[in-house]
Parts: sequence; C-alpha cells; structure tokens
Amino acid sequence: MVADIPHPQIELSGIYTAYMGAELPVIRDLSLNIGKGEFVMVGGPNGAGKTTLLETINGMLYITHGSARVCGLDVTKQGVEVRKRTGYVIQSFAFDPLTPFTVEHVVMMGRYGILGCFRNPSEPDYRAAEEAMRMLDLEDLAEKPIGTLSGGQQQKVLIAQNLAKKPDIMLLDEPFSNLDLCTREFVSGVLEDISSQGCTVCMVSHAFDALPDKDLRIVVMDEGCIRLNTICHSSEVEDTIRRMTVVS
Ligand SMILES: Nc1ncnc2c1ncn2[C@@H]1O[C@H](COP(=O)(O)OP(=O)(O)OP(=O)(O)O)[C@@H](O)[C@H]1O
Ligand SMILES: [Mg+2]
Repeated sequence: MVADIPHPQIELSGIYTAYMGAELPVIRDLSLNIGKGEFVMVGGPNGAGKTTLLETINGMLYITHGSARVCGLDVTKQGVEVRKRTGYVIQSFAFDPLTPFTVEHVVMMGRYGILGCFRNPSEPDYRAAEEAMRMLDLEDLAEKPIGTLSGGQQQKVLIAQNLAKKPDIMLLDEPFSNLDLCTREFVSGVLEDISSQGCTVCMVSHAFDALPDKDLRIVVMDEGCIRLNTICHSSEVEDTIRRMTVVS
C-alpha cells in the first residue's frame, strides 16, 4: 500500500456500485485516492470490475453507498459536471462502414459536452480539435469517413476526441487493444505528456510493453475489490499484476 495523498483529485471512500436491476453491487466497499497528474494502471482478470470502476468515477453508474468525489465534485449529484471534466475512451466500439461522419467531425464531438446544446463550434473548439488530431498524427485522415478506417485508426480517433475535450482526468479502457507495438508506444508517449502537464491518466490495460519509463500507480482489482494499490516502475508492472492475478 502507498502513502495517502493530501488532496486527491479522485477520492472514493467505501463505495458500492450496482448496475440497474442487478441484485448485488459489482463494486464493494472500494476506497481509492488518486492525485492530480498521476499515471494509473488498473489491472486484474476479466470481470474484476475495471470498466465498472471507470464508469463509477465518471458518474455513469449508481453508487449505492459511500462517497465519491472527482475534481472536488460529488459524483452522485454532479455527474454531468464530472463528465465535462473527464475524458472516457470506452473499451468496445464499432462504427458502421457507412457512418456519415469524418474523422474531424468525430474529434470535434469531444467539444460538444462543453459547448452545450445548439451552439456551433468556435475558434477555440477548432483549435482544440486540430491540436488533438496533430497529437495523434491523424491530420492525413481528417476528411476520411470514420467507418472506413481500420480498428486501430478508429481507436486513435476516439483518444483524440477525448483529448480535444482538454480533460482534467483521462479515463481509458484498454486503449491499446487494437494498436500495434509502435502505435502503443506512440500513444503511451502522448498520455505521458498530458500526465506530466497535470492531466490525471487512469488506464485499464492488459498490455504492459509500451508504458512510459517511470513510476506508475498500479491498482489491481478482483471481484469488485482492490487487491493491490501500489507505486512501482513501469518495467515491474507486468510481474506485479501477474503475481496478483495468478489463478490459485
Ligand atoms: N450492464 C451490466 N449489467 C449488469 N452487470 C454488469 C454489466 N456490465 C458488467 N456487469 C458485471 O459486472 C462485473 C464486472 O464487469 P466489468 O465489465 O467491470 O469487468 P472488467 O474487469 O472490465 O472485465 P474485462 O477485462 O472483461 O473488460 C461482471 O461480473 C459483469 O458481469
Ligand atoms: Mg472491461
């Protein structure tokens, strides 16, 4: 276990999270503090509750007990405000080949939550979307329909969409699942850059070969609980997670 953080940006205390209509909560009595600008890797076996944890932080699920504060906001009461401050790259996505939006349209959608209803993007929105496309090296694909891209290219577009939001916290659920090794290293570098500029990065991943060369917080989950919460160097992450998830 690691020393506590004086002013956590994500502060979960004794929370229980349940899916609508489910008999039992998935997350049970979970407490976790994450500081601003931390780079966090969340691991654990399939069904451990990793996606549920990200969606709890993002205010998308029903917290039945406990307290959850994100960026100083009460997640249970201010979920919309929380989601304006967080990016969330989802685990599973699929675009119909005929989806009528280009890459630049999809990246601009990252600004919509901040823009509000019936407002057209203005100069800062175009700048943020262009910068996000540049960071992910997507400029050459800007005018291509999203449905005609490869799975890995689409995954980069979704990461760019969330970067365009300029979030305080970036939640990513297996963002490397479609990416080749070089692209994983490239995207990992982008995430390291935003984290060193103060954006908190919280990433679920089963891929450990392209992590930034530095100390990271490792959170290992199982059966809706945290089994390990520690800081270790990225080179030790795979062994650390493997030790915690060996089938007994
Ligand atoms: N929409 C849902 N309704 C009810 N239960 C759900 C729902 N989504 C997930 N669960 C349950 O919550 C538990 C945790 O699921 P979760 O998706 O958080 O796991 P995970 O750790 O992200 O797994 P994976 O590595 O396979 O993505 C599982 O038992 C799953 O069946
Ligand atoms: Mg998941």
